[in-house]
Amino acid sequence: MTEKILILDFGSQYTQLIARAVREANVYCEIIPYHKPVVADPALKGIILSGSPFSVNEPNAPTVDIAALHAQYPVLGVCYGAQLTAKQFGGDVAKSNKREYGRALMQKAQSDQLIDDITQNSQVWMSHSDSVLRLPEGFEVLATTESIPYAAFKKVGAGNALYGVQFHPEVYHSTEGKKLIRNFLVNTCGCSQDWTPAHFITDTVADLKKQIGDRKVIMALSGGVDSTVAATLIHRAIGDRLFGIFVDNGVLRKDEFQQVLDIYKSIGLNVKGVDAKDLFYKELAGKTDPEAKRKTIGKLFIDVFQEESKKVEGIGLLGQGTIYPDVIESVSVHGPSVTIKSHHNVGGLPDTMHLELVEPLRFLFKDEVRRVGAELGIPSDLLQRHPFPGPGLAIRILGEITPEKVALLQEADYRYIKGLKDFNLYDQVWQAGTILLPVKSVGVMGDERTYEFTVALRAVTSVDGMTADWAHLPYDFLAHISNEIINNVRGINRVVYDISSKPPATIEWE
Ligand code: XMP
Repeated sequence: MTEKILILDFGSQYTQLIARAVREANVYCEIIPYHKPVVADPALKGIILSGSPFSVNEPNAPTVDIAALHAQYPVLGVCYGAQLTAKQFGGDVAKSNKREYGRALMQKAQSDQLIDDITQNSQVWMSHSDSVLRLPEGFEVLATTESIPYAAFKKVGAGNALYGVQFHPEVYHSTEGKKLIRNFLVNTCGCSQDWTPAHFITDTVADLKKQIGDRKVIMALSGGVDSTVAATLIHRAIGDRLFGIFVDNGVLRKDEFQQVLDIYKSIGLNVKGVDAKDLFYKELAGKTDPEAKRKTIGKLFIDVFQEESKKVEGIGLLGQGTIYPDVIESVSVHGPSVTIKSHHNVGGLPDTMHLELVEPLRFLFKDEVRRVGAELGIPSDLLQRHPFPGPGLAIRILGEITPEKVALLQEADYRYIKGLKDFNLYDQVWQAGTILLPVKSVGVMGDERTYEFTVALRAVTSVDGMTADWAHLPYDFLAHISNEIINNVRGINRVVYDISSKPPATIEWE
């Protein structure tokens, strides 16, 4: 039985960070919208109430019955969660004239297992306009800051613990916040911190065996981290009854099709490579609109995959590399806390195939997928790969796609990515790629005038791709790559570097 913490989401932008902090402490947790009933479960060890953009005094403020939860489980309220606790138990919460945003220093007011190992004057991160002005009867202050009297508090007396913290322990700038969360999990809830990649693998493989039985699973592989780790787990459970399909859509990176197939082979996966390049080029011919290109590639991919799956008799299930951020139900308050771009997921397959889904990574964050992958022995080259869009180079060739342009871009991109690796810069950027611009410009090589294409180099730093900054790559490196490309790739005589952040630009150019 895996011990579990539930996080009730009131719509804070930081809710996922709470979940990641809990998982980092090797305790399993799930996020549910605040209005979902908490189902009684012997594995449930405690509850965390998230922050929220609301004020507890607004008429439509989201709410739960905290006394009822607390009767059964230890509870920690964070920011809005703390204010809601204070209010429901009879304290006063109001807009104070001292709003607090950003850094503050926490002064401990008494000894408690939640904060004992946190240093006096530890930095905490505040983001609130309401404050608890009076604690309810039977509550005690644990810590203050210069501007607020109740930075942390608890209910006294027998029974389950009930804590409130006004700051956000889950964010990076609360320097000892992770310790506080760990204290809640271990000291208060008694969690044993045994949720590790190794345990995840053992449990998941057992669950997969149960779900799949003696049936067969088909799965589309992309060469990316998620689908590879998911497939490896399923393979552990059912061996070669997993049929993987990897499609060459003609817009992969240079040599990628063969390299990825080789890696799959080395892992022992049963994967069929399908060369469908010509089909994709034929359908893409003449298409210049980015969305039209995406739709064409998406539809053809489904066609090819379905054709291939018909060749395997008796398929019962469809494997998918879905991860937790794709499935967390977001709480819609002032706009959802997580915006999912539907076009960014390999869409379409589940709807058209009518097969039962197998999604072993459904509850993992991306960094956890990588850790599980490492534990499974998947080569780190593959685990550390940059994200690569489903429509591949098609959205990095602006305008019409031809096999010749693909070959040209592949050559330039190959030199750029190899250079990033050779200069130890690859792991410092979140994503990098090369874009072929639809313009020709004049150059001179030797005594000859050239009239050739331009490529733009793109490299960004980011956490999740939702916002990104352009990577400040060293000039020497950029100079080296520019020479490499122009001297070696016939057809390109100019290289530029993209210095736009997202927003307002996007990572891809189309
Ligand atoms: P943008 O360009 O929206 O990209 O800033 C954010 C992230 O999403 C990837 N991306 C895609 N991935 N299909 C995908 O599978 C797509 O159509 C697509 N468009 C963008 C992009 O590479 C970046 O990681």
